[in-house]
Amino acid sequence: MSKWKGIIVAGGSGSRLFPLTHVVNKHLLPVYDKPMIYYPLTTLMLGGVRDFVIVSNPQALDQMSTLLGDGKRWGITIVYRSQDRPGGIAECFRIAANDIKGCNVALALGDNIFFGAGLPRLLLEAMAQESGATVFGYEVADPSAYGVVVLDDGGRAIDIEEKPRNSRSRLAIPGLYFYDERVLQISNEIGPSARGELEITDVNRRYLAMGDLRVRLFGRGVAWLDGGTHRDLFEAAQFVKVVEERTGLKIACPEEVALRMKFIDQSAFERLIDPNPKTEYQLYLRSLLEASPLTER
Ligand code: DAU
Repeated sequence: MSKWKGIIVAGGSGSRLFPLTHVVNKHLLPVYDKPMIYYPLTTLMLGGVRDFVIVSNPQALDQMSTLLGDGKRWGITIVYRSQDRPGGIAECFRIAANDIKGCNVALALGDNIFFGAGLPRLLLEAMAQESGATVFGYEVADPSAYGVVVLDDGGRAIDIEEKPRNSRSRLAIPGLYFYDERVLQISNEIGPSARGELEITDVNRRYLAMGDLRVRLFGRGVAWLDGGTHRDLFEAAQFVKVVEERTGLKIACPEEVALRMKFIDQSAFERLIDPNPKTEYQLYLRSLLEASPLTER
């Protein structure tokens, strides 16, 4: 079986969030009670990804690695690669070329947040496919800010456009993509778009042209949010707060996901917990030990 590598793109200029991102990288900003990057990281972990490449701008890499480390404590590996200027999402494959050679790649955009009971199954299904690419479709009221997929009457993808002005479809493509090992070569073959970026949409268009693109729909059971604007960031935080308070469970807690996915065992999990927990986060981790049966919630 091919090996899956996870890439999280966490660079870009964050210009829509200025002045918040003047000093702090967008993906380190809080989404309610956790840094934004915890969300895409745990999404991919829930699919079973254990080896990660984080691509970010040079100024942020130190802080990212201070936050996440080498991943060992969560039973994963994380390496960091620098994107010197925001050359587009698809540039990440070139930047991570040595890390992903010969591997399938699960790519998550660092500012995309997913939540829902149906999600782990969709991720596992996407990762069970070793050849071709899988993207998702999500119905939105205004598709003009996204990559958009157009389906024919039989539900087959016939076109993909990036930020169309007058879209023929309301199916946006969220920032979660699964590719076979050809993605590296494809990223080397595409050129920059009119806005000077290597577009992920151009990669997807290549898979579509080869007849190797699967589009799976996220139903109502999956929530997709992003943290691209002040309003998005605020609403994502509200969403996380409401769900967490209602259920008493955290969204995107890497320690918990690592334990549930059996990336670490119970004794390794216990070592992550402060014996005298003082923070709400640590108290939550402790509470997981007391709840039973832990792996079935
Ligand atoms: O959110 C989903 C959408 O994300 C897709 O539907 C679009 O097809 C895709 O192009 C992208 O659109 P955005 O305009 O939202 O992309 P943005 O420039 O905001 O970047 C998305 C993430 O990728 C963000 O976390 C920053 C990171 N990024 C972006 C660029 C351009 C990088 O790490 N490096 C980059 O060069």
